[in-house]
Amino acid sequence: MNVCKAHQAMRKIALAFLFFLLNIGFMGAMAGQDFRALKNGVEVSSGAETVRVVALRDDVVRVRMWRGGEIPEDASWAVLAEARAGAAPTTAVKSAEFAGFETAKLRVLIRRSDLRLTVMDRAGNVLQEDARAVEMRGTEFRIAKVMPAEEHYFGLGDKAGPLDRRGQAFTLWNTDAYQWQESTDPLYKSIPFYMSFCKGRALGVLLDNTWRSQFDFGKAKANTLEFGAANGPLDYYVIYGPTPKEVLGGSRWLTGATPLPPMWALGYQQSRYSYMTEARVLEVAAKLRADRIPADAIYLDIDYQVKNRPFTVDRESFPDFAGMLKKLHGEGFHVVAITDLHIAKVDAGYAPYESGTAGDHFVRKEDGTVFWGKVWPGPSVFPDFTRQQTRDWWGGLYGEFERAGLDGYWNDMNEPAVFESPTTTMSEDVQHRIEEPGFAKRTASHAEIHNVYGMENSRATYEGLLKIEPDVRPFVLTRASFAGGQRYAVTWTGDNSSTWNHLRMTTPMLENLGLSGFALSGADVGGYAGTPTAELLTRWMEIAAFQPIDRDHTEKGSGDQEPWVGGAEQEAIRRRYIEERYRLMAYLYTTAEEMTRTGVPMLRALFVEFPDAAVDRHPLDVDRDIAPEFLMGPELLIAPQPYGEKTDAYAVTLPTEGWYDYWTGQRVARMAKAGLPTVMVTPELARLPVYVRPGAIVPMAPLVQSTEERPVGPLTLRVYAGGDCRGSLYQDDGKSFGYRRGEYLREEFGCEVKDGGLRVRIGAREGKYAAWWKTVRVEVYGWSGAGRVMVDGKPTASEKTEQGLAVTVADEGKGTELVWQ
Ligand code: GLC
Repeated sequence: MNVCKAHQAMRKIALAFLFFLLNIGFMGAMAGQDFRALKNGVEVSSGAETVRVVALRDDVVRVRMWRGGEIPEDASWAVLAEARAGAAPTTAVKSAEFAGFETAKLRVLIRRSDLRLTVMDRAGNVLQEDARAVEMRGTEFRIAKVMPAEEHYFGLGDKAGPLDRRGQAFTLWNTDAYQWQESTDPLYKSIPFYMSFCKGRALGVLLDNTWRSQFDFGKAKANTLEFGAANGPLDYYVIYGPTPKEVLGGSRWLTGATPLPPMWALGYQQSRYSYMTEARVLEVAAKLRADRIPADAIYLDIDYQVKNRPFTVDRESFPDFAGMLKKLHGEGFHVVAITDLHIAKVDAGYAPYESGTAGDHFVRKEDGTVFWGKVWPGPSVFPDFTRQQTRDWWGGLYGEFERAGLDGYWNDMNEPAVFESPTTTMSEDVQHRIEEPGFAKRTASHAEIHNVYGMENSRATYEGLLKIEPDVRPFVLTRASFAGGQRYAVTWTGDNSSTWNHLRMTTPMLENLGLSGFALSGADVGGYAGTPTAELLTRWMEIAAFQPIDRDHTEKGSGDQEPWVGGAEQEAIRRRYIEERYRLMAYLYTTAEEMTRTGVPMLRALFVEFPDAAVDRHPLDVDRDIAPEFLMGPELLIAPQPYGEKTDAYAVTLPTEGWYDYWTGQRVARMAKAGLPTVMVTPELARLPVYVRPGAIVPMAPLVQSTEERPVGPLTLRVYAGGDCRGSLYQDDGKSFGYRRGEYLREEFGCEVKDGGLRVRIGAREGKYAAWWKTVRVEVYGWSGAGRVMVDGKPTASEKTEQGLAVTVADEGKGTELVWQ
C-alpha cells in the first residue's frame, strides 16, 4: 500500500477541516495571549515553553524553542549571519487550535496546546510534523518527527553504513576513529543536517547545536525520527525543495558555499604516511612523470617535521626544502604539507609554542592551567580557535611556509585527537574562550565547543592563508568539521582500510557528505590501514578517478601504494583511468563551479538528478542493486560492481532511457522490458562501466600531465544525441580570484534533433578569460546523418566515425551553429 500517500491524504483532510474552522471565523477561543505575530513568523507559548518560528525565505524557516523568559543568544558557528537576518513575507494563520503563518511556498502551524509543529506545502501536503511535543528535560531536549513509511533520510556527513539513514541511530561527537568499520559511530565529523525524501519531495533539517547530539531515524522507536542534544539551544532550520537540488541550494544559502578550489586540487594526488626524505619525495614525483601518470599534488605527512612539531622542517631528511619545492613546481606538482593543530609543549626553541604562550592562545582547564595532552609530538597544547585573535595568530604561522612555496595544508587530528586519554579527546573541563564577532564574550566548556573545534581550526588556516596571499585560492584538507565547514576546507573520510568492503562503503559516504554540504571530498584511495591487493588498488583507482578528491594515501608500515605497485599490467590500467580524469578535467572543473554556485555536490546520488525516475518516486539509490552507482556531475554515471571481489555478472539500472556507454559511444541495449532500463555487466578489472546521459554535451581536452600544462589541440565536445540536450564549460586561471573580476570563460552548448536534422549550438563565450583552444572538434554520438554539415550556414565536410560524426570548427567565442541534415 502506498503509505506515504495515505499519510498525505489524511493530513489533507485534517488541514481542510482546520481551514474550514478558520473560514467560519472561529476565533473565540483565542482569549489568552499565548501567541505573538512577528514580522516574518510567530511566537507561541505553552506553560514555560515558547517556540518561535520565522520564515527566512519563502522556503526556509527557523524554529527556536526555549524555557523561561529569555530566548537564547542568536549566534552561530554554522549558519551565516546574513541568512539568519533573512525575512520573507508571511501571512498569519490562527484558529482555536493552531497559530502559524504562510509564505509563498509553505504553511507552518503550531498547535497551541503543546507547541507541536507541522510544515506543509501550499497544496496542503504535509512535509513534516512533530510526532509528539518536544521534550525538554534539564539541559537536554529531544524533538520527535513522524516518519511516513516511504520516507528516506540522507545526510549527517560521512557516517558509515548504508546511504539511507532510516532505521539507524547516530551520535554527533567528533572522534578519531582509526580503522573504523561499518558500525563505528561517532566518526570524525558532526554535520547535524539531514534531507528527507518522500515521493519526490525533499526537505532539509539543520540542527544548529554544537553539543553532543543524537539523530535516531526510527531505530529506538519504529516510525519516529528523534533528534536532540545534551545541552545548548533548540534551534533548527527546515529547508524546503521540493527537489533535492533546491534543498541543497537552501542549505548552501544557510551555511555557505564550498569555494571554487584551485584546479590542481581536482588532479591526482599522491600521499603516504610518510615519504620520509626529500630524496624519496622527489623520487616518487619523478617516477610519476617518467611513467606518464598525470598527477598534481604530493603530500608531506608528519615525518617532514622535527619531532612531529607543526611548522618545522627536519633539515636532516629535508636538507633543501626550498630547492625541493622549486623542483617539484618545475615539474608541475603542488605540495601539501600536514600542519596539525597540536603545538608541542617544549621548554625552549620552538617558536609556535613560544608565541602561542606569550599571546595566551592555548586552552585552559577550569583551574586556570593550560591543558596539555599527548599527540604526535608528545605533550602538546591546543589553540583556542574560538577566539578571533587566536585564529589570527594561527593563520600567521603559515607565513614562512607560504613564502617557501607550499601550496596547500592538511589539518589533521582536529577532533581533537588526544592519545592516552580515556575519551580520545580533551577533557570536558577544558574552557574555551569565545571572543568572536557576532557572539557575546564568554567562556564555554569543551562539551559545547568540541564539535566545532576542527572546523574553527580549518577556518583559522583558510582565513590566515587568504590574509597572506589574498589572490590565491587556499587549499585546506581537514579531518574534523561541522556544518558550514565546507566554507574553509575539503575533507576526507579518515582512516579507512584496504578492503573491498571499504571501497564499497566509500560511495555512500561521499554521497552523504555531498548532501550535507561537503561537496568536495574523497577517501584514501587504496585504503589507509593495511595493504591492498593489486586488484583492489586498481579498482579503487578506477572509481576514484570519478570522485571529487582523488588522493592515494596509506599508513606507516603498510606496503607501497603508488600507481605502479603490482606490476606493469596493473599500472597501465590505473594510468588509463587517471588519464581519463585529466581528459575530463574541463568537465570536472565545470562541475566544481556549478557546485560552488548552487550547492549541488560534484558526486551525486542518482536521486539528486533524477528524483522522479522511479514510478513510485522513491529515491533510486536505496535499491540494493543501484546502491553502488553514482553520478559525477550531471552527465556521467559510474556503475562499479556491488561486491568488488566478486566476478559474477551484475545488473546496472539506468535512471532513464537511451543512455550511452562512455567508452564505446554506443547506445546501451536495454534489457528489462518493464521498469527502468537495465544492462548486464560481467566485471572485467580493466573496465569500469561508465554511462553518459542522452542529451549530454561533455567537454574534453587533450591529455596533459598536470593541470599546470596547457592542453594543446582542439577542445572536444562529445554530443550524445537525446532530449534535453545541453552542456556547459567553465574555465578560469584555476588559481586566483580573477574570476570574480570577470576573468573567466563560460560557454553553453545545446543540441536538437528536428525535421530529420541535427542542430548543435556552441553558445557565445561569456567572460574575459582567454581560451586555450582555437578549434572545437564536435563529435556526435547516436545520430548518423549525411556527411555534410552546415557550419554557420557554410557547407563543410564532416567525418564519419564508428559511432557517428565529427567535424572540427573554429571557435572564436562568438557562437557557432552546426546543422547536419
Ligand atoms: C592520522 C590521519 C592519517 C595520517 C596520520 C599521520 O591517522 O588520519 O591520514 O597519515 O594521522 O599524520
